[in-house]
Amino acid sequence: MFIGIDLGTSSVKTILIDHDQNIICSTNSSLSIQSSKDGYSEQNPEDWINATLDCLAKLQSLNSKEFQETISIGISGHMHGATLLDKDEKIIRPCILWNDTRSSKECIEFENQDFDVRNISGNITMPGFTAPKINWIKNNEKEHFKKIHKVLLPKDYLRFYLTGEYYSEMSDASGTLWLNVLNRTWSNKLLACSYLEEKHMPKLVEGNENTGYLKKSLAQKFNFKKNVSVVGGAGDNAAAAVGMGITNIDQSFISLGTSGVFFTPTENFLSNTGDAVHSFCHCLPDKWHLMSVMLSASNCLDWICSITNTTIPSALQNVEKFYNEDGLSLNSSYFLPYLSGERTPHNDPNVRGSFHSLKTSTNPSELQYAVIEGVSFGILDGVNSILKINSNFENIFMVGGGSKSKFWNQLISTLLNRTLSICDQSEFGAALGVARLAMFADSNITDKKNIVKEIKIREKFNPNVNKSDVLLKRYQHWKNIYLENKI
Ligand code: XUL
Repeated sequence: MFIGIDLGTSSVKTILIDHDQNIICSTNSSLSIQSSKDGYSEQNPEDWINATLDCLAKLQSLNSKEFQETISIGISGHMHGATLLDKDEKIIRPCILWNDTRSSKECIEFENQDFDVRNISGNITMPGFTAPKINWIKNNEKEHFKKIHKVLLPKDYLRFYLTGEYYSEMSDASGTLWLNVLNRTWSNKLLACSYLEEKHMPKLVEGNENTGYLKKSLAQKFNFKKNVSVVGGAGDNAAAAVGMGITNIDQSFISLGTSGVFFTPTENFLSNTGDAVHSFCHCLPDKWHLMSVMLSASNCLDWICSITNTTIPSALQNVEKFYNEDGLSLNSSYFLPYLSGERTPHNDPNVRGSFHSLKTSTNPSELQYAVIEGVSFGILDGVNSILKINSNFENIFMVGGGSKSKFWNQLISTLLNRTLSICDQSEFGAALGVARLAMFADSNITDKKNIVKEIKIREKFNPNVNKSDVLLKRYQHWKNIYLENKI
């Protein structure tokens, strides 16, 4: 048996799988974000631990016999968060998260060096990444900065709690901006841009390598029979990729979760910093990936539903009716989905969302449609940014909460002019991915090549050619709205 733990932004999810990768059971426990100001987004690391213990206890109570037989654990988590520990290994302050945009000034400071920072990090410095958060703490919370003994990513803090060991792995470490992404090592030059040294960092492994064993107290608490090992794991997107078997250059996925992501593996290190494309290591040796990230995707739908007092299923019905029956035209309303700033392609932490082309006749359905369409246009922007440097991907999988909507999948398929696939068990994405990575720690599995395989396609969506003309014209108009309103 193997356990996958996914520390998501809105909940911790865990799954228990057997040697044949059958899902024995899964559990989750919700988390909240604290946002004391516009652009601020924090979580208390203790909440991650409580939610994880809650999930594990639920797994245990659901299938105690199988749970006891666990061999190894993999952990994934939301990326980039700065979790700071002092020399007594205590948390210094709440973790500043991936979608926090307070550190834009510090991005300029981080890159203001006598060498090209982007050449080593492979990435443009964005406030969501870990490095500028530390520069912000140095500039604004000196006392906290002075106490820093270790800087850990969220899932690596969870690992520290579970094993007592300081480790990270390549996929998540890429998002700190302190990694030499080509060489897969910490870069002393980049660390120095945040006034840090390698001693502040955890050791690095690949996602399928062992990082230690569950602490005795936890092993006893959960009644595990074996000495349970914990592998490196992965950042949430790399983990979701492994969960679907996406490790080759012809594969890719779009995730419509809190953030909106397009992800495709590469065989070499490639980068396009001009369009704020993310260029990271994959969580398996000798593999990299490119990724576009929108900060607000399906949470734009949550937002419009809450202010129009509509449930998500009825909003999706309204939207479909509007699209099919109410004459979508160039004059219909538009939405810029930048509720918390944007990464790819604009790298603009200060932009905010907005509606355009509002009329006296505009009703909630039209606004709801504009929201779904605006997020889809953002996904197309991301795919186009990656196409500038890599066009190897052919197959695209859809994952994340938004991909439960057939309408939304169909709309994106038409916009991209590509077939999109939904696969079985994609809802377990990242947790399944790291449970698979955990299987590499089992010495009884001799054929490790077959662990990460593509999972079964359940449904396919093909472009609707009748709609592509109006949608692409609207996309051009939508792009101009951003440019014309850019401050
Ligand atoms: C990736 C990113 C998000 C978070 C939250 O760069 O910031 O995908 O990992 O899911």
